[in-house]
Order: sequence, then C-alpha cells, then structure tokens
Amino acid sequence: MSASGRVAGLVPAAGAGLRLGGGIPKAWRPLAGRPMVAYAVDVLAAVCDVVVVATPPGYEADGAVNVLGGATRAASVRAMLAALPPDVAYVLVHDAARPYAPISLASRVLAALRSGERAVVPVLPVVDTVKLVDAASYVLETPDRAMLRAVQTPQGFERALLDEAHASAADATDDAGLVEALGVRVLTVAGDELAGKITTPADLVAASGLR
Ligand code: C5P
Repeated sequence: MSASGRVAGLVPAAGAGLRLGGGIPKAWRPLAGRPMVAYAVDVLAAVCDVVVVATPPGYEADGAVNVLGGATRAASVRAMLAALPPDVAYVLVHDAARPYAPISLASRVLAALRSGERAVVPVLPVVDTVKLVDAASYVLETPDRAMLRAVQTPQGFERALLDEAHASAADATDDAGLVEALGVRVLTVAGDELAGKITTPADLVAASGLR
C-alpha cells in the first residue's frame, strides 16, 4: 500500500434520524445556519482528495459527490464505495452526526493508515460502568471498564479492505465491525471529546450553543 495514495471521505447521511425528530433527515437539520452534514464534509475535505455523501431522496450536500443512499447504513456505504475512482487507496468513513469532530482527529486516523495500519478507529475511555443484560433486563455480566472504549468517527480503512468487508450484504453499526468479522486487526487511536454524536433533541440544543 502506497503511503501517498489518494484518500476518499465517505459520509453515510441517508438515514431518517427518527430519534431526533423534526420532520427532516438528521443530517440536514440546521446547526448554526448550516445543515449538520456540512461540518462532516468540511472536516473530511481538509484531509481527503474526494468527499462522497450518501443522501436521502430529495436532499443534497454541497462540496461533495452526492450518491443516493441505500436501505441500511451498510448499503449506503456500499453505494459510496461503488462511486469511488479506482486510484483511491484509503477511505475515511465519518458520521454526519458528529459536527464538532476536529480536523486533527481525521489527520490522526489518516496518519495511522499511511504508516501501514489497515483499519483504524478513534476511541475514548468509557466513563460509566457498563452492564451486559439479557432480554428480561437482568444483568449477565460486568465487563472490566478498563478494557472498554467508546468508538467515534472518522474510521479509516485501506480501500481494498473496506471493499472486501462490504462485499457481502451484511449490516453493522460501524464499518470496523465488518472488518473485524474478516479477522483483520483494527487499531484504536485517541478520539476527541468534541467528536460526540448528536442523537437526541437535547444533543442538538447543547450543540447549537457550541457553534
Ligand atoms: O441511525 P444511525 O445513527 O445508526 O445512523 C448512522 C448513520 O448512517 C447516519 O449518519 C445515517 O444517516 C446513516 N444511514 C445511511 N443510510 C441508511 C441508514 C443510516 O446513510 N439507510
């Protein structure tokens, strides 16, 4: 893998974002006067040669190649991978719902890829104790918190590896999960407190005060 290969940034933004409400897709909810997705495009554009956004029908993102999303998040990523030029060597996949992710975070993930890692995810330590529970809400297990990490985006991959991970029709909440299923090691690097995910209306209100 060439350390100087071209880089693509992908933003899966085709979901309805039902938990946020508001009647328009989450990624197009305004934040400080711009659709939320614009911030994800900006951060990727700072470190990538091409940026692709998977959109819901009827919506477009400025400054990116727009591709119609699929029925699942993974299908949307597959649609974006299919639209990439052949000379792209590295791919960063970034949630539209993390508008404050700093450019330094994307740079850190990309630097690890360029140094030879095949799959890289930014993480933070988990501050709450986490329980594994059964369907009847009884605790099954308490994992050792020191070994747990909360995963953020952008997540970075060798392009060929991400193509392989998405070759099946599997779905996953993140792309690294599909890569892990191939038996490939995924490196964690330091995440950033600013790169939190906007999921609920309260998150959006808190975020509006920051921009
Ligand atoms: O719903 P959730 O927060 O897990 O979605 C994660 C991301 O995947 C969101 O940015 C959403 O817009 C995107 N997505 C997509 N295509 C879908 C479903 C979700 O691009 N069909």
